[in-house]
Amino acid sequence: MATTALGDPHLDSWAPAAFEHAAGLPPHWYEDPGIFRLERERFLGRSWLHIAHDTDIPAPSGWYRAEVAGYPVLLTRDASGEVRGFHNVCPHRGAPLAAIGDPAATCGAARTVACPYHGWVFGLDGGLKGAPGMEAHPCFDRGAHALRPLRIDRWGPFWFADISGQAPPLADCLGPAVQRFAGARTEAWRRVHRQDYLTASNWKFYVENNAEFYHEPVAHGSSYLSREVSWNNNNAAISAEVSEWCYMQYSPYGPGSPELNGGLKPGTVMPGLGDTWLKGSSIFQFWPNFAWILNPNLLVTYLIDPIGPASTRIRWDWLVPDTPEAMDRANLDPLIALYDRVQREDLAIFEQQQRCVGSPAFRMGALNPRSERGVHRVQELILEHLSGRR
Ligand code: FES
Ligand SMILES: [Fe+2]
Repeated sequence: MATTALGDPHLDSWAPAAFEHAAGLPPHWYEDPGIFRLERERFLGRSWLHIAHDTDIPAPSGWYRAEVAGYPVLLTRDASGEVRGFHNVCPHRGAPLAAIGDPAATCGAARTVACPYHGWVFGLDGGLKGAPGMEAHPCFDRGAHALRPLRIDRWGPFWFADISGQAPPLADCLGPAVQRFAGARTEAWRRVHRQDYLTASNWKFYVENNAEFYHEPVAHGSSYLSREVSWNNNNAAISAEVSEWCYMQYSPYGPGSPELNGGLKPGTVMPGLGDTWLKGSSIFQFWPNFAWILNPNLLVTYLIDPIGPASTRIRWDWLVPDTPEAMDRANLDPLIALYDRVQREDLAIFEQQQRCVGSPAFRMGALNPRSERGVHRVQELILEHLSGRR
């Protein structure tokens, strides 16, 4: 097979394939540092990356720094409430502003943000306010040394960044999800818990897994059989919609669901939810790194952070209705323990898949036509971007 300028023969020969003939991704794409670098260049840095929940950015003013897919970003909120995004790279010699070594650090009530290397100080509007000793420079131009702006946008309380500044508008990428989830009241949910998971596996295993429900009765067999988690206790009734950038899965509660058996304690259900969101569970995966599980009593969001070819961080934010009952630890702790157990079942599989990637036998077989269409879409998006068709 001929090789492309990128040095990968699979990209030369790739053409969109019908679901039935999908061949998956070449095994080395799950471990190759060159492919990971290409993914950052070709789409992670050109798509809407989820970077923060609105409450991460201090109010009434302050800043929040984060790093996603290796891109350092800074969000500021000024006294008027305006939120701005910047690349978190000091215009002097490239150090990140704020504490180093912390993937997400925040500072409330601040009016400035400083570089820890040589002490340059910036306003929340990105302008350079102080540069010690630089008055001795014969032609120093303060205006040319502001922080570089970063394109950001929000959907409800969720902030996204487009590193390239060239991605289509966020609302266009969300497409049908905007209308579909209009009644989910995402602004009304209150964040009560955050948990980071690190896994020694490629980020694509995680996203592919979020876009299918084939594995649930097997990989999560214990909770499936005991009907503990609502999204997999009625597998035959699950429906999934795949749009250009989104995977949306809906599981109506079945007769044995914990919700219908009194699992939703009084006071823990989000008031004002439409019928759809009261009568079922929804899993959502938005390209490339945002996902959630939505139930009437909890909204767990995922920030999927590709750190390296075989290293991924997943941040779970827990949001619940703003009621004393929903926020009570006696209500929350058993739910967190249950979801944590299910999450670890998935992560254990990915780390085992990662070990199989180096085998000459690793290749994808046929996909389940009912429950794995989302996997096909995720892989097509990756192939479309890497092959330059997008
Ligand atoms: S690198 Fe930031 S002040 Fe020097
Ligand atoms: Fe799972």
